[in-house]
Amino acid sequence: MKKVITYGTFDLIHHGHINILRRAKAMADYLIVALSTDEFTAGKGKQVYYKYDERKLILEAIKYVDEVIPETSWEQKIDDVLKHHVAVFVIGEDWAGKFDFLKPHCEVVYLPRTEGISTTQIKNDLASGAQSAKNKK
Ligand code: CTP
Repeated sequence: MKKVITYGTFDLIHHGHINILRRAKAMADYLIVALSTDEFTAGKGKQVYYKYDERKLILEAIKYVDEVIPETSWEQKIDDVLKHHVAVFVIGEDWAGKFDFLKPHCEVVYLPRTEGISTTQIKNDLASGAQSAKNKK
């Protein structure tokens, strides 16, 4: 069975997330999402809206996702790839080049981001009182 892995916080799931999960799953038979814990996300200077267990529950309900594991550190990726016999590592191209060190162990693919949406944008739009991003423009 060919396995693909991707990493992220996946807070306030949006269509950009669904697109990358769908594209990742299309590359293999089994998709593992390494989901940033609340503490790891805080270390990146971001605060989550949904707690880890809630984000995990939501991800597990998405048909492309086969397994969710915790991401607790920047250093775990090689161990994850080896432990789970991962063939492909996928992440958005905002990270282009950053994970090329995995190439001796698996294929590394950077996918284009979906334009015009991010968790940060949703949070900012709602905080500024916009009922939808469209109404703002
Ligand atoms: N992603 C994407 N297209 C978007 C937003 C995210 O392809 N419009 C991808 C990212 O490149 C990453 C994964 O989804 O591979 C998880 O990203 P995450 O950081 O959780 O989502 P963002 O919406 O980018 O969150 P934030 O605004 O907090 O950075």
